[in-house]
Amino acid sequence: MSSANDHRPQDNNQRNGPVHVAVIMDGNGRWAKRRGLPRAAGHKAGVKAIKRVVEAAHELGITHLTLYAFSAENWSRPADEVAGLMQLILETLRNELADLERQKIRLNIIGRWRALDSEIVAQIDEAIVRTKDNAAGTLTLALNYSGRQDIVDAARSLAQAAHSGSITPADIDEAAFAAGLGTADLPPLDLLIRTSGEMRVSNFLLWEIAYSEFWVTPDFWPEFGARQLGQAVADFTKRRRRYGALSEGD
Ligand code: IPE
Ligand code: IPE
Ligand code: MG
Repeated sequence: MSSANDHRPQDNNQRNGPVHVAVIMDGNGRWAKRRGLPRAAGHKAGVKAIKRVVEAAHELGITHLTLYAFSAENWSRPADEVAGLMQLILETLRNELADLERQKIRLNIIGRWRALDSEIVAQIDEAIVRTKDNAAGTLTLALNYSGRQDIVDAARSLAQAAHSGSITPADIDEAAFAAGLGTADLPPLDLLIRTSGEMRVSNFLLWEIAYSEFWVTPDFWPEFGARQLGQAVADFTKRRRRYGALSEGD
């Protein structure tokens, strides 16, 4: 029994497509700049792309979609951009709740979202409660998220449990660790997409990407839609995931 087995899906040749897809939604600012628009216009167009992609994901059989919306590092942007993003997040949560209910999608949030503005926290609380029994899919938004912070939080809660005597250090294994992450109740991450061509992870899902497939497009996030998602899924289905072993035909 090797730990690699933990990553292995039932169907090794991927013909069924990805179940859990995450997206680093990047390039809103550059998209706007190219059109001579303020960065805020790019973020607004980015929300439209989210709506398209949520629908397209459902069509493609992706039951779990995880979107990087605001990183813990994004606080270091200019104050007016941060304020604009927070306002947009609040309005979008408010405006799109009925649509999530219609589509039977459960809203899930990862990251330190409870530290956000109280209006946003209240809106998220309401959305989580109202969508909690929806079974058509799970939309996870990463808000005030840092992959390293999430790992540190998991380590701290295990340390606390060991300190109080409810576990021993020997109980700490990969499964116990993963159970302390924000993504604990999500399936393994099959595919990570990044838009706007950057070849970096920017502190997203650091633990979870251990055996995820990557797909990067030069398109900016506001240009992204069903076509690109379909392409990413088609590429994914052609890949052979080896998990460090050999697969048929090697
Ligand atoms: C992604 O677009 C949205 C967020 C990070 C909130 P950017 O705002 O990073 O756009 P670029 O990368 O500067 O073009
Ligand atoms: C990653 O994009 C964060 C989100 C998409 C929310 P960034 O634009 O913040 O990443 P860097 O700064 O290019 O690495
Ligand atoms: Mg960016």
